[in-house]
Amino acid sequence: MRRIHLANSILAGVVLVFVATSSHSVFAEETVPGWSPSTALPPGELGKVVALGQEIVENTNEHPLSQPYVNNALTCSSCHLEAGTDPKAATFLDIASAYPAWSPRENRVITLEDRVLNCFMRSMNGVRPPHGSKVSVAVTAYITWLSSGSRLRMNPDKPLGPHHVPSLQIDPQQADLQRGSDLYAQRCADCHGESGQGSDEGPPTWGPRSFNDGAGLSRNDKLAAWLKVAMPLGDPDLSEQEALDIAAYINSHERPKFVLEEHLPGAEKLGEYNAESR
Ligand code: HEC
Ligand code: HEC
Repeated sequence: MRRIHLANSILAGVVLVFVATSSHSVFAEETVPGWSPSTALPPGELGKVVALGQEIVENTNEHPLSQPYVNNALTCSSCHLEAGTDPKAATFLDIASAYPAWSPRENRVITLEDRVLNCFMRSMNGVRPPHGSKVSVAVTAYITWLSSGSRLRMNPDKPLGPHHVPSLQIDPQQADLQRGSDLYAQRCADCHGESGQGSDEGPPTWGPRSFNDGAGLSRNDKLAAWLKVAMPLGDPDLSEQEALDIAAYINSHERPKFVLEEHLPGAEKLGEYNAESR
């Protein structure tokens, strides 16, 4: 037994040296998510709740558990592509390992559940579901499952996981609305509609049925960075300048205004006792 342990630790040492010398980052292993499409659901009730969470992430505006908390035509999957399993477009892979995290926006340390609930208020233009509610637990369980095998690395700077969308190098002030308008007509309008109203092929990009101006994507730099890795769907090939021009054009239109008080539930619903009463 002892000999096997020794052999293992020598092997581990060799692997570590290899990782350390073969890459500039000591976090080289973070580029490989622990979850893969063949990862099995946990057994029992937990697996059922994880599967329910995936269903909600894919049908957020229609699922009976989440619909009451959504006030637009989007799903979580509209931006977290492939229900968060796309490794680049605002991926959910490995993100549970980043929480609890410091959040400059809330000026507080927040949990993964908090982060999920805040997306309902902003990106979904809805009301924050109660802590511990079925919808909250299911979505958080699903996202946590996508971090199976990941190592814990709570983020002290911002509520983002290890593979978050990289910021662009370009100065956000360099946007050209006319070029953005032309590009949008050529590359995006078929699916999202000339007036941003959406179609059977894509959700609304502005107007009353889109995300509100408290959402991350309502900022040109964030939207441009996301477009660069996500759109046109299936073949994201925009240059930084094109992504920025289109982002500025999209965000030059009206969208719902975010006023925090309008998106919080009543005080009695802000938290819930997460247990069955006996
Ligand atoms: C309009 C687009 C949009 C929609 C819709 C949306 N999100 Fe997000 N969300 C984002 C973006 C952009 C980020 C930042 C991700 C990044 O930089 O990688 C984010 C971040 C997050 C994070 C933190 C990610 C991390 O790396 O730690 C969580 C959790 C999250 N969203 C959950 C949800 C859930 C759950 C829903 C549905 C109820 C949802 N989001 C709907 C755009 C959206
Ligand atoms: C082939 C159709 C198609 C094309 C072309 C396309 N998109 Fe999308 N887009 C989608 C779909 C579908 C989604 C939602 C993803 C999902 O639900 O899986 C989406 C999501 C989005 C979102 C986030 C949700 C929302 O509507 O706010 C934005 C923003 C967006 N696309 C912008 C663009 C831009 C800008 C272009 C052009 C550069 C573009 N798309 C090209 C189909 C398309």
